[in-house]
Amino acid sequence: MKYLVTGTTSGIGKCIKQKLQGHELFEINRADIDLNRPELLLSVDLPVVDYAILNAGHDLGGGVPFADHESVSIQKILNCNLVSNVLITQKLLKNNPNTVIVLITSTNINRQYPNNVIMMLICQRQKRNGRTLKGRAVLQSD
Ligand SMILES: NC(=O)c1ccc[n+]([C@@H]2O[C@H](COP(=O)([O-])OP(=O)(O)OC[C@H]3O[C@@H](n4cnc5c(N)ncnc54)[C@H](OP(=O)(O)O)[C@@H]3O)[C@@H](O)[C@H]2O)c1
Repeated sequence: MKYLVTGTTSGIGKCIKQKLQGHELFEINRADIDLNRPELLLSVDLPVVDYAILNAGHDLGGGVPFADHESVSIQKILNCNLVSNVLITQKLLKNNPNTVIVLITSTNINRQYPNNVIMMLICQRQKRNGRTLKGRAVLQSD
């Protein structure tokens, strides 16, 4: 089986890499592409794989009240944790529509964090069918 894993330099991704010893593994790390800059992916050819584990991510500014977030941090978080994963997923599915894609996120997705913009956006997305989230930073559902 052929695997692609992002963010294998530490933590969960490093453990996954160890578990996949013996399999054909294609890694994407910051030294290859800074996933805070998804535009870099546009000119990259990805391999045909059976499984992809999109693990790379960070939360610069996590836990910081929304009003205090630096806009550059918001951009980096969304670029790495969301936009890059969407682009990688699209490229992989073009290569092989049967690729099994695993996205590593957080159990925090099940909770509401009114002062955390990223969690607010994720919860908003989950509840986009009409409900409005309430908190210090209120975002309307789309
Ligand atoms: N561990 C937890 O309790 C927990 C909880 C909630 C969610 N998560 C999610 O689970 C995933 C793995 O977490 P972890 O705890 O294993 O974190 P970690 O030890 O910090 O590992 C994150 C990996 O992502 C890579 N990465 C971060 N920003 C990148 C960028 N801009 N471009 C390319 N690679 C980048 C890191 O590379 P560098 O070494 O170059 O920084 C590292 O390899 C993340 O998506 C995280 O948000 C983890």
